[in-house]
Amino acid sequence: SGTYEFIKAEKRGEKGNVGLIQLNRPKALNALNDGLMKEVGEALTQFEKDDSVGCIVLTGSERAFAAGADIKQMQSQEFAGVWRGNFLSHWDQLTRANKPIIAAVNGFALGGGCEVAMMCDIIYAGENAQFGQPEITLGTIPGAGGTQRLTKAIGKSKAMEMVLTANRMSAQEAEKAGLVSKVFPVDKVVDEAIKTAEKISSFSKITVGMCKESVNAAYELSLKEGLHFEKRLFHATFATNDRKEGMTAFSEKRAPNFTDS
Ligand code: CAA
Repeated sequence: SGTYEFIKAEKRGEKGNVGLIQLNRPKALNALNDGLMKEVGEALTQFEKDDSVGCIVLTGSERAFAAGADIKQMQSQEFAGVWRGNFLSHWDQLTRANKPIIAAVNGFALGGGCEVAMMCDIIYAGENAQFGQPEITLGTIPGAGGTQRLTKAIGKSKAMEMVLTANRMSAQEAEKAGLVSKVFPVDKVVDEAIKTAEKISSFSKITVGMCKESVNAAYELSLKEGLHFEKRLFHATFATNDRKEGMTAFSEKRAPNFTDS
């Protein structure tokens, strides 16, 4: 799916229904420069448009998911420029995808790397993964969600400590803290993410999209508003063929045949 300079993108899974994006800037430990993030956005747009793809996996290398925003690219920037250009705002494209994104993290997930992982819907980690927000050591602060998503994921005390000390969190700690849903051997984490993505892809894309939207609403809405939003989406599933098919198949003791309609 296209030729890129800083990433690789291909369809994986037995049915080719998983979009795999691999950050591929090994010499810089996948430091996230503008070109790389632009390519991630392009690959994402392709997979979002592709009806055969039901779920996306984002990964790096075994050494680094990503070591953060590109420090060498940022070094000479001034306030007026980053403010006028709303520097890093385009990274948010990851959070606007309709299809679920699983981050498969090995090695360093630091600064922007940790933040990009947290923009994804599920994080799987390899045993060597290290999460951290070391921006304070550079005289700056996390700028792509590190003070917000991390706090929501692991709570104030742990997030505050990571952001204020730059201390890293291991894969095992991250799982215990709820940042990561599962930990796997380094050489298995991408395969496991693809397996999970294949399972998600086997369901109705409409239902998958509604589940994702509704879970994400929990981050934005009050409990009352969130429950109302969820209830309305639940009601809306009754307008789909796939809801009818799912319940009919259950009653007839057969596998459902979802048509994304
Ligand atoms: N930006 C640019 N280049 C980076 C980079 C980054 N974030 N991280 C690593 N690199 C480069 C190194 O400069 C080095 O390049 P050269 O060979 O040309 O010198 C190469 O990648 C390999 O790195 P190291 O030699 O440092 O490898 P190491 O194994 O000794 O250390 C590391 C690994 C601990 C991850 C170390 O590279 C490091 O501390 N990186 C920076 C981590 C960081 O501070 N990230 C936060 C960035 S700020 C941010 O992300 C802001 C935000 O919120 C969006």
